[in-house]
Amino acid sequence: MSHLCVSIDKLQVGDFVVRIEESTGYRLKKSGHIGSPQQLVALKDAGVASVWIDPAQRLHTLIEAAAAPQLSGAVDEPREEIQGSVAKSRQFYLKAREQMADFYSLVSNGGIPDLDVAQKYASTFVDAALKHPTTLACLTRIREKDAYLMEHSLSVCILMSLFASYLGIERRLIDKLALGALLHDLGKVMVPETILMKPGRLTDAEYEVMKSHVVHSTAILAEEKDIPPEVMDVVSNHHERIDGKGYPNGKSAEQLSTYARMVSIVDVYDALSAERCYKEAMPPTKAMRVLMELAGSHFDEYLVRQFVRCMGVYPIGSLVRLKSKRLAVVVALNEESSLRPKVKVVYSLTSKSHLPVQNLNLMLSKDSIEGAEDPRDWGVEVSRYLSTS
Ligand SMILES: [Fe+2]
Repeated sequence: MSHLCVSIDKLQVGDFVVRIEESTGYRLKKSGHIGSPQQLVALKDAGVASVWIDPAQRLHTLIEAAAAPQLSGAVDEPREEIQGSVAKSRQFYLKAREQMADFYSLVSNGGIPDLDVAQKYASTFVDAALKHPTTLACLTRIREKDAYLMEHSLSVCILMSLFASYLGIERRLIDKLALGALLHDLGKVMVPETILMKPGRLTDAEYEVMKSHVVHSTAILAEEKDIPPEVMDVVSNHHERIDGKGYPNGKSAEQLSTYARMVSIVDVYDALSAERCYKEAMPPTKAMRVLMELAGSHFDEYLVRQFVRCMGVYPIGSLVRLKSKRLAVVVALNEESSLRPKVKVVYSLTSKSHLPVQNLNLMLSKDSIEGAEDPRDWGVEVSRYLSTS
C-alpha cells in the first residue's frame, strides 16, 4: 500500500510515520507509531509541518484510546465495563488485551507508550478487583494460549491488585503496583520470538537474551517523565529473588521491597498456571505447591503464605474431588473457610461421565473436598464453567 502525505494537523495518535516531509530542521531517527498526544505536540513544537504515513500500519486501538469519548467514558465508569458477570467483563478484558498488543507493537517499532492510557486500564482492573474479586479471578483463568504475553500482563495486573488489596495496601498505591504489573514484561518485544516461543530448554546464550527483557522494560519506562518509583520497582525487580540469585542485579533480600517480593510471586504463579503454545497449564493447586516449595529461597515466605490465603487453598479454577465421588470446579471462595469454596459439580467418578452442572456451596453442604485433580486427566474444560453463571 502506498504512503500518504498528511499535514501535522491531520496526524493522529496511532498513525505510523514513515518520514518527515517538511520541517524546520527536525529529523526522524526512525519510522514508528505516534503513541500519545504528547508526541504530536512535540512534533508540532519541533516545527514539523507534514509527514508521510503508512495507513496500512495504523493502530486503531491507540486512536480509539486517545480520541474516542466512549473509551475514556468506559474507563472513567468501569462499573459499566467490568461487572459481576465474567461473560460481560470479558469484553472489557479483550479490549484491554488489544490495547496491550498495540503497546507491544508500538514499543517494538521504537515508539513510547502513553502511560496515562495504561494507567487507566490498570486502574479499571483495580476498581474491578476491589469490587468483584471473584469475577476478576475467573478472568485470569480463561486463557487463549496464542495470546500469552498480553494475557500474562493482564493477569499479573489483576492478581497483583487482588493481592495488594488483600494485604490492605492503600488504593493510591495499588494503582501504581497494578500499572507496574501491567507493564512488567514490556521489554520482551526486544527478545526474538524464536527464544520467547522455544518449546525446549533455552541454551545459556538464549537464556541471557531472555533475561535482558527486564533491562529493556526498565529502559523503555525510564524514557517516560514522572514515572512513579513503585512502578519502576515492580518492573525492574520482578525477577529478583530473596536468596540473591535472581536477575538482572542479583539483589539481596534487604534490597527488595515488599512490592518487588509480591510481583515475583504473582508473576511465577501466573506463568506456571497458564497454558502456552508449547506447554499445558499447571493446575492452580499445583502452582501454589510450587510457590510454597520455593518460599524462603525464591520468594518471601510470609508473602507466599499470604498469597495462598488470598487465592485460597483451592484457587478459583481448580478442579477438586469431593467426598461424594464427584468432581467439581471451584468458582468462588468463602471467606469463612478456604477449604469450603463454592463449586460447580460437573463429573461423576462412579459413572465416569459428565453430570448436569450443579451449583454447590460447600459451606452449606455435608459434602467436602478430598483433594485436587488435574482437569487433563478427566477431560474437564474448566474455563467453560467459569464463564457461565
Ligand atoms: Fe519477566
